[in-house]
Amino acid sequence: DLDMTSPAPSDTPESTGHKPAAAIAREVARRRTFGIISHPDAGKTTLTEKLLLFSGAIQLAGTVKARKSGRHATSDWMEIEKQRGISVASSVMQFEHRDHVINLLDTPGHQDFSEDTYRVLTAVDSALMVIDAAKGVEAQTIKLLAVCRMRDTPIVTFMNKLDRECRDPLELLDELESVLKIECAPVTWPIGMGKNFRGVYHLLRDEIMLFKAGDEKAEQAFEVVKGIDNPRLSAMFPLEIEQLKMEVELVHGASHRFDLERFLAGIQTPVFFGSAINNFGVREILSALVDWAPAPRARDATVRVVAPAEQPFSGFVFKIQANMDPAHRDRIAFLRVCSGRFERGMKVKHLRLGREIKVSSVVTFMASSREQVEEAFAGDIIGLPNHGNMQIGDSFSEGEMLQFTGIPYFAPDFFRSVRIRNPLKIKQLHKGLQQLGEEGAVQVFKPVQGGELVLGAVGVLQFEVVASRLLNEYGVDAVFEGTSISSARWVSGDDKRVLADFEAALGHNVAYDAAGNLAYLATSNVNLRLTEERWPKLVFHATREHA
Ligand code: G4P
Repeated sequence: DLDMTSPAPSDTPESTGHKPAAAIAREVARRRTFGIISHPDAGKTTLTEKLLLFSGAIQLAGTVKARKSGRHATSDWMEIEKQRGISVASSVMQFEHRDHVINLLDTPGHQDFSEDTYRVLTAVDSALMVIDAAKGVEAQTIKLLAVCRMRDTPIVTFMNKLDRECRDPLELLDELESVLKIECAPVTWPIGMGKNFRGVYHLLRDEIMLFKAGDEKAEQAFEVVKGIDNPRLSAMFPLEIEQLKMEVELVHGASHRFDLERFLAGIQTPVFFGSAINNFGVREILSALVDWAPAPRARDATVRVVAPAEQPFSGFVFKIQANMDPAHRDRIAFLRVCSGRFERGMKVKHLRLGREIKVSSVVTFMASSREQVEEAFAGDIIGLPNHGNMQIGDSFSEGEMLQFTGIPYFAPDFFRSVRIRNPLKIKQLHKGLQQLGEEGAVQVFKPVQGGELVLGAVGVLQFEVVASRLLNEYGVDAVFEGTSISSARWVSGDDKRVLADFEAALGHNVAYDAAGNLAYLATSNVNLRLTEERWPKLVFHATREHA
């Protein structure tokens, strides 16, 4: 089943040895890979930290948070730093819980970095959505959820900050259902809120978990009282218990019962109420991930569907990040394993380049530090050192020509031309932009005629990030200026001659992106429409999938 091209003499039998199928299947079954999504400030960082704390991956809360620099952002620039703080440094975390291996992928909350988020969401099997219960559904939640829905990703919902005055829980569920168009199945139900927050009632277990303010040190046990009719409860807080009974009756009558199949199909979301900062409700989230969220699933690889427990290794790159850690100034390609067993030192085939590479230095992301990985299975994320030969969307295997699908690129909405103050730095500028383009930090277009590069972004903050990274990482002081370009489309066509004519005729507005794809840079919507009409044999795409 192997189609290895001429193994090098140093190749040892063990390095290509496969693990028995049953062992791989066992490893796959105990994996959970999920992304955490929220509108900024809903409590994503806090919850992430508590998940790590509960699983014993970190001892003290504050570890993740400390990285989220510039918390009290006062400028756009600080906002970027804040985004980078959390989403760069700790973008992938692996930890164990109840004999399960959990891979948590963070996503940037700021809309200007939504492209990055879309790509991350292609690498997960489920998502955890955090909502500020005082605010309800916010703008960024809607966008992120739309991406999950495109892929039918199962979603677990955490309503956070019940220790504050929140909106009415029934109203919150209503909003979720109507705005996000997803069925809600409450699993826990809050008893009071704010100063009168007493705890939550577990609708499936008929148990009440009493609230107590939590601390930052360790996981803690909350007292559990069995049965909503338990006289102890009425004695403790008679008012809230009466209210709870009424609400529970309403909830049972009016809302959906949790249904595992519907959750796995992405139609229904189980909803939990709690307070991340107080550790309250965090254990229930971990249980939902372990008990309900799916193990890695089969993936479309164009020529066929690849099952996670197949023996040969395969995977794809969904993100490239430079300079993750100032102590290691390198670039890392994040690869999601889709099948088989990855072993350090093994040879894998880089399918786009048709070249075999030996992967001897790989990192995994254990909670907060980077460690060498010895083996990895479907669902795991491994970091490969990238010396410029890997791009987002690249597939890897033990030889079979696979191409995993689904990594989207969106036509940019904002454009800048770029110029440098010191012409001697032109090489550094090109190198920097090429690398940032491959990372997906910005889209870089090189017009067929005319020397000036054009940058495209989905959000304008991306330009700030690029300017600052060019300066700090490549020593290039670049000037970004407005351009006449207002939209871009990728162009494809079957007839090579037509494509060549197109390039020759419209050279100043025809460009290649960092991955070598042909694009048309339009000066207005009218211009775009006219061009499309004049070149009927060409197809103009607003999105492209890595291919
Ligand atoms: P984010 O990653 O989604 O942007 O949110 P983050 O966890 O940073 O939380 C945003 C703010 O909400 C923080 O307060 C955090 O302490 C607070 N928070 C998180 N969970 C809860 C909760 O359960 N209850 C309450 N009352 N607050 C919560 P901050 O003042 O912005 O930051 P800090 O001063 O606490 O660091």
